[in-house]
Amino acid sequence: MEHHYYVNSGKFLLCFLHVLQLLWGTSGLDSATIESDRLALLDFKSRITQDPLQIMSSWNDSTSFCYWIGVECSPVDGRVTILNLESKKLVGSIPPSLGNLTSLTGFNLRHNNFRGQIPEEIGHIQGLQDLNLSHNYFGGEIPMNLTHCTGLKALDVHYKELVGWIPDRLSSLLQLEFLRLGGNHLTGIIPAWIWNFSSLKTLSLTMNNLNGSIPNELGKLSGLGFFQLYGNNLSGIVGNLDH
Ligand SMILES: *[C@@H]1O[C@H](CO)[C@@H](O)[C@H](O)[C@H]1NC(C)=O
Ligand SMILES: *[C@@H]1O[C@H](CO)[C@@H](O)[C@H](O)[C@H]1NC(C)=O
Ligand SMILES: *[C@@H]1O[C@H](CO)[C@@H](O)[C@H](O)[C@H]1NC(C)=O
Ligand SMILES: *[C@@H]1O[C@H](CO)[C@@H](O)[C@H](O)[C@H]1NC(C)=O
Ligand SMILES: *[C@@H]1O[C@H](CO)[C@@H](O)[C@H](O)[C@H]1NC(C)=O
Ligand SMILES: *[C@@H]1O[C@H](CO)[C@@H](O)[C@H](O)[C@H]1NC(C)=O
Ligand SMILES: *[C@@H]1O[C@H](CO)[C@@H](O)[C@H](O)[C@H]1NC(C)=O
Repeated sequence: MEHHYYVNSGKFLLCFLHVLQLLWGTSGLDSATIESDRLALLDFKSRITQDPLQIMSSWNDSTSFCYWIGVECSPVDGRVTILNLESKKLVGSIPPSLGNLTSLTGFNLRHNNFRGQIPEEIGHIQGLQDLNLSHNYFGGEIPMNLTHCTGLKALDVHYKELVGWIPDRLSSLLQLEFLRLGGNHLTGIIPAWIWNFSSLKTLSLTMNNLNGSIPNELGKLSGLGFFQLYGNNLSGIVGNLDH
């Protein structure tokens, strides 16, 4: 009798666990969005033309993409949250399908040899907080659609081939703490709205072709700890920095 009792409770326990698994499956892991992330990562891999450290060989189907070098996933829904391939000696470009990684919060390709444009599709990633692309060879303009990433805290496209004006639409990025646009070929004036970014801690616009005057409003950025403008054609007096 007792034996029978244990068997039944064991079955009940298994059944209970299975229901939990089913609940987890429907509320958390969604296989369609996970597959979409996997395809976007493989598309990214296909745009890598040189990889002397063979980083991309870990990006294979023997493991879930959450174990691939540079990839971090959310423990809740299994989607990609961070892509960090800093200083991996990679040559390649960013495909538009990067914008399919809609759970991404951090994207870091600093110190590689990426070329081509930063795709406008990056604007699909509305929860993006860090876009760290400095020290590559990105050309073209700063993508307008970054304006949709209103939670952006770090925008680092320092160095080297970007052209055009600083897009006015970036004025929506009021959470920015870290803004580095230096070492490119940006032209035009420093937009007045930059001085309204009260969260800003680091601002570098150095070594571009910016002109016009440095406004008095600079003093409004009381949290600014690092500030560089040299290497432009600016005039004016930096006032009110006594915060
Ligand atoms: C990215 O998403 C678009 C729109 O859903 C789709 O057409 C495209 O095939 C996706 N790209 C990749 C590489 O998965
Ligand atoms: C696949 O990736 C794993 C690590 O994720 C690695 O150990 C293995 O060598 C890779 N396989 C190939 C064929 O490169
Ligand atoms: C991007 O850069 C900022 C500023 O240096 C840093 O705080 C942040 O951790 C970086 N993000 C990633 C994903 O590497
Ligand atoms: C850029 O954003 C606009 C809306 O502001 C949208 O219509 C357009 O499709 C976006 N472009 C890309 C390439 O995602
Ligand atoms: C900066 O913010 C003030 C209000 O705090 C607003 O009146 C002004 O228009 C803003 N300037 C720009 C250039 O957005
Ligand atoms: C800044 O340079 C542009 C050309 O790049 C010129 O049209 C404009 O008049 C200049 N503005 C100032 C204030 O010097
Ligand atoms: C800098 O701007 C002034 C006008 O504000 C202009 O006369 C001068 O030629 C410019 N210098 C360079 C190197 O562009």
